[in-house]
Amino acid sequence: MNRRRLLVGALGVAAAGVFVLPGSGTRRRVERVKPIIEPPPYRFPKDFLWGTATAAAQIERRVPSDWGRFEERVERDQLTATKGPGNVVPGNISGYLDYPPSIRVRKTDAETHYDEDFTAAVAQGHNAYRFSLSWTRLFPNAGMKVPNPEAVETYDGLFASLESAGLDPMVTLFHFESPAWLWEEKEGQRGWEREDAVEHFDHFVKFVVQRWGRKVRRWTTLNEPMVYAYNGYLQGLFPPFETRSGPEALGKVLENLLRAHVRAYKRIHAAAREQGVRTEVGVATHTRSFLPFRDHAPLDRVVAEKVEQAFVWDFLDALDSGHLRISNTEIHRIIPDLAGSQDYVGINYYGRFYLKSDLLHPTKFEVLPSDPEDPLEQVSDLGWAIDPQGLHQILVRASRRYQRPIYITENGLADATDSRRSSFIVQHLRATWDAIQDGVEVRGYYHWSLLDNFEWAEGFGARFGLWEVDYTDNYRRIPRPSAVVYSEICRENGISAGLWERFGRWG
Ligand code: FCB
Repeated sequence: MNRRRLLVGALGVAAAGVFVLPGSGTRRRVERVKPIIEPPPYRFPKDFLWGTATAAAQIERRVPSDWGRFEERVERDQLTATKGPGNVVPGNISGYLDYPPSIRVRKTDAETHYDEDFTAAVAQGHNAYRFSLSWTRLFPNAGMKVPNPEAVETYDGLFASLESAGLDPMVTLFHFESPAWLWEEKEGQRGWEREDAVEHFDHFVKFVVQRWGRKVRRWTTLNEPMVYAYNGYLQGLFPPFETRSGPEALGKVLENLLRAHVRAYKRIHAAAREQGVRTEVGVATHTRSFLPFRDHAPLDRVVAEKVEQAFVWDFLDALDSGHLRISNTEIHRIIPDLAGSQDYVGINYYGRFYLKSDLLHPTKFEVLPSDPEDPLEQVSDLGWAIDPQGLHQILVRASRRYQRPIYITENGLADATDSRRSSFIVQHLRATWDAIQDGVEVRGYYHWSLLDNFEWAEGFGARFGLWEVDYTDNYRRIPRPSAVVYSEICRENGISAGLWERFGRWG
């Protein structure tokens, strides 16, 4: 079997699902709705965290990072993919130039809205918020020993706003974006392949922990490392736009990310010990449920399992065992102090993918983000199939595998008309509740996202917000009807009979 091909395919399921093929006929029996045994209400554990998630590069103004440079290049060369949501063209940002320059630069104008946004979130019953701090914003130039004072002031303001609103922070340290200077070549290597990348990242983390560590009990060191590595190094969709032919680059990048994670893990725990406080450190993993496209094709099943292992579990297994083994490759690295360095499992969950094999070419397969011929299937604006039960399975598997508490660090839907988001939320939370009944310790749920934002290569068109951002009216925030539904859930600490009645089924 061609190992590389399988790996590439295995990882070909990254956030921007790009494989869409027409299907044919009835081929699968999917149990879409778990039989309702327990009647509502579905109450969640005491102290459950109800929040939303964002990332700096998606809501704050542009900084001199790899993404910032990419955005400038798309502007300069007038590049834009006009194919519409779900069809990302490498080296482009969908519909980017449809938005005026001020919006492209300021995104959601988050910095001037912290107070307003956090106060409104709390008024809607949220008690938590996950966000990232921008490494580039704090250290925009190479060799800086101390961070940019303006950036420090901005983030001091952010923490003050969180505190006065009463939102519990979860801080992400690496969410896809790194400083442009890290991409200058050093000893033939750039970015996360550089030998000194871990050192540089650690310098940033050290400052963050010293400055704001006292205010933070929950940390995500890395967001979706597999998506980052795959999109950036194999598929060429994200900076650094590489399409490497072998798994070596992937191995090096993942190894350095793991080393960076270990350093951050130790630093955060050392600081917490000094302060005599508890802290939880983990990684947010992009998960999907991977289903065989056809029940009758055993190879579809085999491939689905292999892809799930490679895409979801390889990295998490490494955090657990200390060994980075990349499925279907020879890569096996032992990383010092890595074993057991996750206090919780962070699950980002966006739906289901289908795996379709080809008996005549067993090493080739396709990843389909939805089944175009299934009239019952619900999909997002990006064409991603919705599958609440898949979340239940992932939660149970993650819990059994690692025996750790879980945070749902992201779960959400691109839905500009907000016609599906309320059902999406209610049904995913019902699936979460089921997992809790099955013994899974889920401690919190962070909906992606608080507000519409810059969806990476998908641009501004994919609307994931509980709140709409009116880009024509000074970034005005307008809560969507689903924000009201989520608010009711947060306040009730669960799903009421009334909400279940309205949103427990589609349509
Ligand atoms: C996840 C990313 C997040 C956002 C959502 C829609 O893969 O972590 O930044 O883009 O997808």
